[in-house]
Amino acid sequence: MGILDKFRLDGKKAFVTGGAGGIGKAITTGLLEAGADVAIVDINLETAQAAAEELSSIGPKVTAVQADVTSEEDVNKMVNSIVDELGRIDIAFANAGITMNIPAEEMTFDEWNKVINLNLNGVFLTDQAAGKQMIKQGDGGVIVNTGSMSGSIVNTPQPQSSYNASKAGVIHLTKSLAMEWADHNIRVNTISPGYIGTDLLYKNDKLKPLIAEWEAATPQKRLGKAEELQGLALYLASEASTYVTGSDFIIDGGYTIV
Ligand SMILES: NC(=O)c1ccc[n+]([C@@H]2O[C@H](COP(=O)([O-])OP(=O)(O)OC[C@H]3O[C@@H](n4cnc5c(N)ncnc54)[C@H](O)[C@@H]3O)[C@@H](O)[C@H]2O)c1
Repeated sequence: MGILDKFRLDGKKAFVTGGAGGIGKAITTGLLEAGADVAIVDINLETAQAAAEELSSIGPKVTAVQADVTSEEDVNKMVNSIVDELGRIDIAFANAGITMNIPAEEMTFDEWNKVINLNLNGVFLTDQAAGKQMIKQGDGGVIVNTGSMSGSIVNTPQPQSSYNASKAGVIHLTKSLAMEWADHNIRVNTISPGYIGTDLLYKNDKLKPLIAEWEAATPQKRLGKAEELQGLALYLASEASTYVTGSDFIIDGGYTIV
């Protein structure tokens, strides 16, 4: 098989959590273009259905599934309904996440838990349910978690201790699962974006005014586009990356080298 063929995902069955959002939708688009069937999982069924409708002409099959990935019950139901609809799960993207920008000394414990619960616990529940299904299937699989450059560096000037801690947790959880599941031929990796132009930034009144400052601090002098994560997502999901597991990949226009 030539190297370009290794990037194809024909016949593969995938899901993307937070799939209706900026990054999730771009990843879904990439997977569909490469030939996979994809379930768009989101807490917001309407936006998931709208995304599935919008992308339906690209790939073989795209479907929408409602789930709150912080609920173990929802996540287990989600996996069952994807298996019912697509037949199996080869590729899982645990991508849903939020940020809250509150100084640590003012943050309530509930606010802390909200971010940790989605960004870290939600990724654990998603990976665990996908991993169990892949182990049952018996022929391996691929899990890709969305971390952030914030898992390795501390952003400035905005305070975001819970986000940073959650993403550091995702990167180390990924390594832990890669170790535990290597014998099952399940690879687990992290994509860690820098600043990407999505609703996470544009619809956040605290973050939007900071965009110009971040752009100035980025060697490439701009935000990234969600589409610019597609190449890595496809690499990690495909046979092009069979010796890659437990790794964290930062895509940030050079922000973290400064
Ligand atoms: N945009 C950035 O600059 C940036 C940078 C680094 C990392 N990330 C990470 O990328 C991921 C996606 O972010 P995005 O920028 O596309 O944000 P987004 O806000 O555009 O999309 C997030 C999606 O997750 C869904 N969601 C929220 N809570 C959920 C839950 N409990 N269960 C299921 N789905 C839920 C939302 O409905 C939304 O569709 C997040 O993990 C985020 O932390 C984003």
